[in-house]
Amino acid sequence: MEPVISVDGLRKTYGDTTALAGIDLTVRRGSVLGLLGPNGSGKTTTVRILSTLLRPDGGRATVLGHDVVADAAAVRGLVGLTGQYAAVDDSLTGIQNLTLIARLLDLSRTEARSRAAELVERFGLADAAERRVKTYSGGMRRRLDLAASLVGRPSVLFLDEPTTGLDPRHRNEVWDQVRTLAAEGTTVLLTTQYLEEADQLAEDLVVLDHGRVIASGTPASLKSEVGGQLLHVRPLNRSDVGTVAGILGELTAEAPAIDPTGQLSVAGDAALLQAVGARLAEVPLAELGLRLPSLDDVFLTLTGRPAEEEEVAA
Ligand SMILES: Nc1ncnc2c1ncn2[C@@H]1O[C@H](COP(=O)(O)OP(=O)(O)O)[C@@H](O)[C@H]1O
Ligand SMILES: [Mg+2]
Repeated sequence: MEPVISVDGLRKTYGDTTALAGIDLTVRRGSVLGLLGPNGSGKTTTVRILSTLLRPDGGRATVLGHDVVADAAAVRGLVGLTGQYAAVDDSLTGIQNLTLIARLLDLSRTEARSRAAELVERFGLADAAERRVKTYSGGMRRRLDLAASLVGRPSVLFLDEPTTGLDPRHRNEVWDQVRTLAAEGTTVLLTTQYLEEADQLAEDLVVLDHGRVIASGTPASLKSEVGGQLLHVRPLNRSDVGTVAGILGELTAEAPAIDPTGQLSVAGDAALLQAVGARLAEVPLAELGLRLPSLDDVFLTLTGRPAEEEEVAA
């Protein structure tokens, strides 16, 4: 089956900055693709090009067969976009915002009101519908923003970091809404900095770094590149990092990853944790434990450097 979104060698530069250095990706009909990467890796640029807000410098992208440059008007009619920063008007109420958007999309006054009412209900905003958006919490705003992008019943939805800055409860609410949309058949391209979010929502992942695709696959396949669990150790004294690295190397036959804070990590399990604990009895430790891989770990494994350094460099 034809992919819903098809991206081929897409490039974009801003002055001296290469935002996209030629990326390829496809999104299957009715699936959720997670576009994962640290700040500055090109996520927003990709979404803006795909939603026709920005012209690429090279390469090609289509949405449901329509070229995003040559056939931008057709694409605009098919997609919804929730930006990284809430696009709703603070001085209007929730229902006024949605009604306004519906009117801009050429719905009649009656249709617009009923679509708005349906969406506030669906997003748990009915009680707050008549309140000005400036009184809304971050989670309510984000839900209104999501509702706003659905007014036109898009077949394809772009969500640019939909939960950045939300607390866990509100994040879960947004996740539930995304799951429901996907279950109803909406094709979703979601950007995120969080592996956990991609893991929860996306069937397929594309990892960006400096405007390039550095990995793609399912969440499970990406994490398997890192290993099931990671053992992490932080010696109390920086001067012990070398000693700890040597011992980890001996026990695992692999060189541990070392982050800028002096934390060492290596794929491992409870048995390794015990062995390491025994060998490090004489070394004062600040931390020792097991955890699941994070995006930073995926980065560290894929690129040999932490994602944070990325931001500094960018
Ligand atoms: N309007 C702009 N002008 C100049 N540089 C930009 C602009 N927008 C983005 N960039 C740069 O392009 C790169 C990619 O940015 P962006 O797509 O926003 O990344 P992300 O969404 O992953 O954080 C970054 O280096 C960023 O600083
Ligand atoms: Mg962004």
